[in-house]
Amino acid sequence: MARFLSLFLVCLLATASLFGLSGCATQQLEAGTDYTYSSPSSDGIGKIYLGREIAQVMGHEGAYWLERPSRELEERPQTALEALELRRDDVVADIGAGTGYFSFRLAAKVPDGKVLAVDLQPEMLALIDQKKEETGLTNIDPIQGSLDQPNLPLNSVDLALMVDAYHEFAYPREMMQGIVAALKPGGRVVLAEYRAENPLILIKRLHKMSQRQAQKEMAAVGLRWIKTDERLPQQHLLFFEKPGEG
Ligand SMILES: C[S@@+](CC[C@H](N)C(=O)[O-])C[C@H]1O[C@@H](n2cnc3c(N)ncnc32)[C@H](O)[C@@H]1O
Repeated sequence: MARFLSLFLVCLLATASLFGLSGCATQQLEAGTDYTYSSPSSDGIGKIYLGREIAQVMGHEGAYWLERPSRELEERPQTALEALELRRDDVVADIGAGTGYFSFRLAAKVPDGKVLAVDLQPEMLALIDQKKEETGLTNIDPIQGSLDQPNLPLNSVDLALMVDAYHEFAYPREMMQGIVAALKPGGRVVLAEYRAENPLILIKRLHKMSQRQAQKEMAAVGLRWIKTDERLPQQHLLFFEKPGEG
């Protein structure tokens, strides 16, 4: 019976690959993790986490795009900042900070606190350093992250913000576990992600995320969903909380 079943499975996979369903045919589980692999989509890396294919990282060559003037209208960064309800002395981690488009705006809102601007690409961090000199803002610390860790100090962060970044993390579970460890008890995580539910939002598929998917992925690392704020034209602002002690 077992032999029959395994033969059936092999045939099923072979048939699937004949019909171009190579995703099913080649899926493999990475030992001891939650990741599976299939042939990559045009904007993905072929690695799947909780049913979602991870997007390709936006290279530093595209830094100018993050600073495009039309972003003010498209993403309304000031409105996003208001939604965060920051305190003057908050420690905010801007993870996947890119050129620091949000880090510098955040720094102005937390004059008695600071912004930890984490990115994977040293070229992005160099741009943040350069802008720090130009603006004279001192409450921003650029931090070199790695593929699976944000390299933040433990129990030190009030708010971890990820704007258009989380969907690119190659190790989302490990990154989020690192972020949760860096949060103070009761600390918040906010994801700004283009709405996958809306096909009229013309952003590459894997660079968007549904509310349901984000809730599933944050619950997997023990974060509690607080609310989803829909005041932005194209993005969800998804709020989560690290449960407090006791
Ligand atoms: C699309 S950009 C968004 C940048 C910025 N948040 C903004 O809104 O302008 C995504 C950024 O996430 C960074 N990134 C991707 N994976 C990362 C990781 N594992 N750790 C830290 N940064 C990461 C990329 O290097 C890139 O700068």
